Amino acid sequence: MFLKNCWYVAAWSKDVSRELLGRILLNETVVLYRRKDGSPVALENRCPHRNLPLSEGNLIDDEIECGYHGMVFNNDGVCTHLPGSEEPPVWATVKRYPIAERNGWVFYWPGDPSLADEDLLPDYHKYNEDEDWIRAQGQTHVKAGYRLVLDNLLDLSHLTFVHGSTTGNRAVAESADLTTDLEGNNVRVTRWMEDIEPALAFREYGKYENNIDRWQMSQFIPPAYININNGSVDTGVGADQETRNNDQGKWGFVVYHAMTPETDTTTHQFWTVAGHKDKVPQDMRELFVEQMHGVLKEDLDIYEAQQRAIDLDPESLNRDANPRGTIPADQGLLSMRRVIRRMYGNEQKAI
Ligand code: FES
Ligand SMILES: [Fe+2]
Repeated sequence: MFLKNCWYVAAWSKDVSRELLGRILLNETVVLYRRKDGSPVALENRCPHRNLPLSEGNLIDDEIECGYHGMVFNNDGVCTHLPGSEEPPVWATVKRYPIAERNGWVFYWPGDPSLADEDLLPDYHKYNEDEDWIRAQGQTHVKAGYRLVLDNLLDLSHLTFVHGSTTGNRAVAESADLTTDLEGNNVRVTRWMEDIEPALAFREYGKYENNIDRWQMSQFIPPAYININNGSVDTGVGADQETRNNDQGKWGFVVYHAMTPETDTTTHQFWTVAGHKDKVPQDMRELFVEQMHGVLKEDLDIYEAQQRAIDLDPESLNRDANPRGTIPADQGLLSMRRVIRRMYGNEQKAI
């Protein structure tokens, strides 16, 4: 169940070049490359003749020559040459996807091209490109369905159990006031923790010696984007909702993720964890980046292990989550799943 009429991240900009890049996205095979003028192209990566991925062929000027029998396709996906023939066959076309580039990411639109509106692209300038921020960034190939990754990011009580050596401690799971708000199709989960012991990372980077007020705000934006704001202040200072949404207080960091399903049970996870330079001292910046890569790996181990357990039950109706029950911390992820189901239903009705 994938939403189609949306922008998804297809690649980091730096990875799209004059080399053909083949990638499976939403159960379709896609080839990405740049024209000579630098603009990106996304085409169906399957030759209409005998199904060889076009990424196995050659990029010649702005066209791809298939690596099997030499058909040539232009950047509209139309065959312009069949070796030994005067006229290329009219059936020889591949799908061309709308494509856009912003904030270090190349986005593609798998659905109805007439609906691909660049005003709908998410804006990640501040944290993906702004020089005032220290960034850990990456792309992770996840052997788990994309909703398991979204689940993880919409329930941050897991920091206690998964990231206990850095950002989590017992108080995170035990002492939070949880609110979940639906804003259009966006889900916002706020966890507010008052007068708690600071977790290790907060003591080290935030230089806290006493208790803190801490917040985690996790926002889901369809089809599969997550923005997280983490902040803290000395106990008693407090933080209003605007601060909890956008500000890090005395110490905190932000996390941006874009999940693009590869198949039903695998995902491309594009991510940035960023701390403002004022909040990450010069001599701790390398450590910050290293620790955040470690945090991402800790999460990866969790959702891949979940998927392996789920895969043992191939008869399950909903193979990416088949819980016997839910807990209060599930509010956000249940809301996210309802939004995706509703949007999916609307897309199906429109077809
Ligand atoms: S498979 Fe591509 S030209 Fe034959
Ligand atoms: Fe995590």
